[in-house]
Amino acid sequence: MRKKVVAGNWKCNTTFQEGIELAKAVNSLVVEKGAEDVTVIVGTPFTHLAKVVESVDTARVGVAAQNCAAEPKGAFTGEVSAAMVKSTGAQYVILGHSERREYYGETSEILNKKLKLALENGLTPIYCCGEALPVREANTQNAFVGQQLEETIFRLPEADFRKLIIAYEPIWAIGTGKTATAEQAQEMLAYIRELIRAKYGDAVAQDTSLLYGGSANAKNAAELFAKPDIDGGLIGGASLKPDDFIVIVNAY
Ligand code: PGA
Repeated sequence: MRKKVVAGNWKCNTTFQEGIELAKAVNSLVVEKGAEDVTVIVGTPFTHLAKVVESVDTARVGVAAQNCAAEPKGAFTGEVSAAMVKSTGAQYVILGHSERREYYGETSEILNKKLKLALENGLTPIYCCGEALPVREANTQNAFVGQQLEETIFRLPEADFRKLIIAYEPIWAIGTGKTATAEQAQEMLAYIRELIRAKYGDAVAQDTSLLYGGSANAKNAAELFAKPDIDGGLIGGASLKPDDFIVIVNAY
């Protein structure tokens, strides 16, 4: 059975102190009233990871990094390796976010190295894909996302692929307040599930958690999560507000 997942992506927000307070607030709400069948994750800046792990009940709130290095270790000033992330106690790593692809030049080749290292170090990748507005306007989003998957996660052997969580985040909906309609999100996730079925078979397709991301919030989460192929959300802005985040966690 695939899991329901609500993952926060804090991006480059919160000082260390603010982040620990935010993690504690999210943890209290999840422990107190969060749906027990939902896997809740907070994706924090690297600097916060170890302390966030200490500050939450990790059986209820998982912790994710938002990136990791493409090399295992060595002379790569400023980089944070998958092994380092793992050593903080974090269990997840967001990879391939469109902001990383767009602002930091992350290609499929780089992502493949990161995926491999994350998996080798026992981290669960939350792999992001999604198209920009011109692609959507040309109605070529399926081919575009299909190619992103072909070039990266579809190269993984089945045993590794099974460990992934996949998030579809149309770039035109990220941080813009412009959510994809629940129908548009469902259509794409059903398409991705179909591609997984063709590649790895029905059992894997049924077991893979597919998330929607892009201006998902406390108001629209229930409608999105009601769709059969939407198994949860990757939440940016609204994950910084504990009271909104818990509503999303409980939106199924
Ligand atoms: P948003 O971000 O919810 O602020 O649109 C989602 C994301 O980029 O993960």
